[in-house]
Amino acid sequence: MSNNWQRYFDQKAQTYGASVKASDYFDDASFFMQRDNILRWLGELRGKEILDAGCGVGAFSEPLTGQNTVYGVDFSEKSLEFAAARGLKVIPGDLMTLPFTDNKFDVVLCIGVIQLIEQYKPVIAELARVTRPGGILLVQTLHKRSLQRKVLGLFEPKKFDRMYDMDELKQSFTDCGLEAMEFLKMYHPFKFVSQSGDVGAWSDIFCTSFAIKGRKKIG
Ligand SMILES: C[S@@+](CC[C@H](N)C(=O)[O-])C[C@H]1O[C@@H](n2cnc3c(N)ncnc32)[C@H](O)[C@@H]1O
Repeated sequence: MSNNWQRYFDQKAQTYGASVKASDYFDDASFFMQRDNILRWLGELRGKEILDAGCGVGAFSEPLTGQNTVYGVDFSEKSLEFAAARGLKVIPGDLMTLPFTDNKFDVVLCIGVIQLIEQYKPVIAELARVTRPGGILLVQTLHKRSLQRKVLGLFEPKKFDRMYDMDELKQSFTDCGLEAMEFLKMYHPFKFVSQSGDVGAWSDIFCTSFAIKGRKKIG
């Protein structure tokens, strides 16, 4: 499936160029709403080494490039041409084997990627490996228990390889040496978000996608 996604996103970048449509977002508004909410939640970053893993055309991490050094890795080389033009230091590669030494980055972002990956655990482990102790790993993906996605699934052919429970990603973060996990829950197409250290609220069935962040343990 991986090679199919590589071809798919090369083709998207060929067709849509630097537009967020190349990264398969529903529209500009949903992309910018999600990006702004997640970056606000992450807090202000200055002078940091940041990895945008699966950066696509680089639109998500572009606002961070002014004050930080942002690396972008993706297996779609066509997408990387646009990410480079946005100021990311781009490196073609697969998230299963990142071309970096251990503990390199202050912040690692992986936005909208793991739903395209069947074997997510090795990818989370690889993202955690390159996060420095005390650094932040943030992963955003689709919520498996979303009522809206279940209803859509009745009418649409399956598009993604996987969707996720918040609990399973929290467990995977714990297994990879992260702690102090928090969630940002999003409710497409509505603009509001909610923050929580916990999962399992009844209202989670309305959560369409979520981000999880954790801090890599020191020592
Ligand atoms: C939905 S797009 C999201 C792009 C970007 N993170 C954003 O939010 O704008 C998913 C990206 O992940 C990349 N990707 C998927 N699986 C990958 C893998 N195993 N290794 C490297 N890149 C991958 C795709 O090429 C694509 O650019």
